[in-house]
Amino acid sequence: MSIKFDNNTKAFHLTAKNTSYIIKITDEGYLSHVYFGRKLRTFNSDNLLPIRERCSFSPNPNPNNKLLTLDALPQEYPSYGTSDFRGPAYSIQLENGTTITDLRYESHKIINGKVELEGLPATYVESDDEAQTLEINLSDSLIGLKVILSYTAYENFDVITRNTKFLNCGKEDLKLQRALSMSIDFNNSNYDFLHLHGAWARERHMERTPLLIGTQSIESRRGSSSHNQNPFIALLSKDATEEHGDVYGFSLVYSGSFLAQAEVDQFETTRISMGINPFDFSWLLKPKESFQTPEVVMVYSSQGLGEMSRTYHRLYRKRLCRGVYRDKTRPILVNNWEATYFDFNAEKIESIGKAAKELGIELFVLDDGWFGKRNGDESSLGDWVVDKNKLPNGLEDLANRINNLDLQFGLWFEPEMVSPDSDLYRAHPDWCLHVPGRYRTQGRNQLVLDLSREDVCDYIIDSLSKILNSVNISYIKWDMNRNMTEIASALLPPERQRETAHRYMLGLYKIYEKLTTAFPNILFEGCSGGGGRFDAGILYYMPQIWTSDDTDAVERLKIQYGTSIVYPISTMGAHVSAVPNHQVHRNTSLKMRGDVAMLGNFGYELDLTNFNDEEIETVKKQVETYKELRELIQFGDMYRLLNPFESNEASFIVVSEDKIEAFVSFFRVLCIPNDPIRRLYLRGLDPEKNYSVEGFQGIFGGDELMYGGLTIPDLQGDYQSITWRIKSV
Ligand code: DGJ
Repeated sequence: MSIKFDNNTKAFHLTAKNTSYIIKITDEGYLSHVYFGRKLRTFNSDNLLPIRERCSFSPNPNPNNKLLTLDALPQEYPSYGTSDFRGPAYSIQLENGTTITDLRYESHKIINGKVELEGLPATYVESDDEAQTLEINLSDSLIGLKVILSYTAYENFDVITRNTKFLNCGKEDLKLQRALSMSIDFNNSNYDFLHLHGAWARERHMERTPLLIGTQSIESRRGSSSHNQNPFIALLSKDATEEHGDVYGFSLVYSGSFLAQAEVDQFETTRISMGINPFDFSWLLKPKESFQTPEVVMVYSSQGLGEMSRTYHRLYRKRLCRGVYRDKTRPILVNNWEATYFDFNAEKIESIGKAAKELGIELFVLDDGWFGKRNGDESSLGDWVVDKNKLPNGLEDLANRINNLDLQFGLWFEPEMVSPDSDLYRAHPDWCLHVPGRYRTQGRNQLVLDLSREDVCDYIIDSLSKILNSVNISYIKWDMNRNMTEIASALLPPERQRETAHRYMLGLYKIYEKLTTAFPNILFEGCSGGGGRFDAGILYYMPQIWTSDDTDAVERLKIQYGTSIVYPISTMGAHVSAVPNHQVHRNTSLKMRGDVAMLGNFGYELDLTNFNDEEIETVKKQVETYKELRELIQFGDMYRLLNPFESNEASFIVVSEDKIEAFVSFFRVLCIPNDPIRRLYLRGLDPEKNYSVEGFQGIFGGDELMYGGLTIPDLQGDYQSITWRIKSV
């Protein structure tokens, strides 16, 4: 890793593990993008950044350099209005109403390590020799605007991170109307565009399409990263597969509304840009104020999508997630949601706990319905006081009863919300997002608390802290079950109303930071109606997230496969639930449900007291197996072998870092009559090592398993799964 500046060519060369990123300052002081891709020893910028005269419809901002038009210059942080007609990275309105700005290079510094982002989640280093950071200062001297572009190159990962900071060093107010985190111009458009999309119960399905001339974008306007589009996109060379080809990934470390887009212009270059969604956003920068954008993590892989994913997995596991659970295996849990919904009492909970203990489960999680008068989703959010009708002796007593079974106790909260039917709302009707005089649109009968307000954040911190200080709680499920409407705050002045959604995120991150710091031993699991906020921002505070409310094993194959494009197994909550499945009414075997859930943070979400003897034995075995395998599964390297979006089958292998152990899962959704003999080509093993494969006689070379393949046994019936444990001998 190194970041070098060549004063002769005025070029910066950033190198991560096997990646180069090159930026050049033009004679006029514009910051141009030269290269991003496979590591280069050296480069000739005249070759990589050819300048060609363009026709008069690409105007020329420098009378002394007729070759220059920003319309054709690859740039690092482009503006609009001075000859570039493509989408700008930022836009600022001045007091006179105009929006023309002109950023030029002013200075730079290169430092060891990485700087934390104020109030925002970001990847980090543990020591300064893990990365170097380049800060380039741009300025518009006419208005006193300064913009700092920060780039970090990691030594051990093919990762370059970027963020941008705006400073008003002038005398007049500046209004940011668009403040993206990054922009980069690729010199061609011969790529496919990959993103993860979906809906509630159908999150992060993959879509790969050719880049077309014009703009392709994904975004969320929901005030959260959303079930519908994930804050991630990638460009893939046309020949890129899981194992081969160039892939460029862009992942935003942010949990609110975002925009990610690819714009192919008249010269068939591609501009990628990403950041907070400019839609319904503005930010007033008074003199001396600053604005920090979220971070974008850019990963380059010359070995296909699989290697890009593994880079994200390693980085996010080791240098995004924090806290004691970053490196600690996660407990096997049972959650009572699909077992009881709102209908439970202490005895019922204790009986599930007893069954859980006998099965070897380690943590009991009490889900929604334990507080206020919450017998359905119509009331009580905000009133975090135990419901004595259901739990007459209180939470402390229930936690003790669970602890006495030698199980940890976990609890569900939905702290960002308020029910109109709650004491909190009756006392503070102005504490939710709302527009005076307008109807307050409800989602799941609830309103969104206004986390841009400090008093509201303090209320949440205090009310949760009280419970966490009085009850022995080892785990929290932090839910969030609707998106924002009427986004406005009672406390902000008119000129700052469009700051509300981002201020909400800053408030949320502040709450997370305070609670996770004050209660470092609690395992926090994020949730938003399943995977409605499954993003890198949340993972900075909570090392795992409930992947989807859809617990059907077949649906989960796609959801977990798509999620694994960016996010590691250790971040995905995955539970065995009852059949017929509550979301899709499908019947799958207990074996398949277990095998799918084992590719995540394993748990159960059904009434364990209803099992027959055979099911008890199966579950005991699953729990025992997962305990033996979880270190490997949660912290190993994952290779995707068969893609459920492309066929009737899915397959994954997880390999330990030292390649001594591996775990393979194979799934066939529908039976194939008289099926051909097929092989599964494993990946990630050491070709020089010999391995034993569970269920097979003899010894196999790693090379044989990868290049010759493992014969898939004959399978009868729908919804089949097989797993193999592999060990080096
Ligand atoms: C949505 C979550 O995703 C579910 O797991 C459950 O916790 C419910 N909310 C409870 O209301």
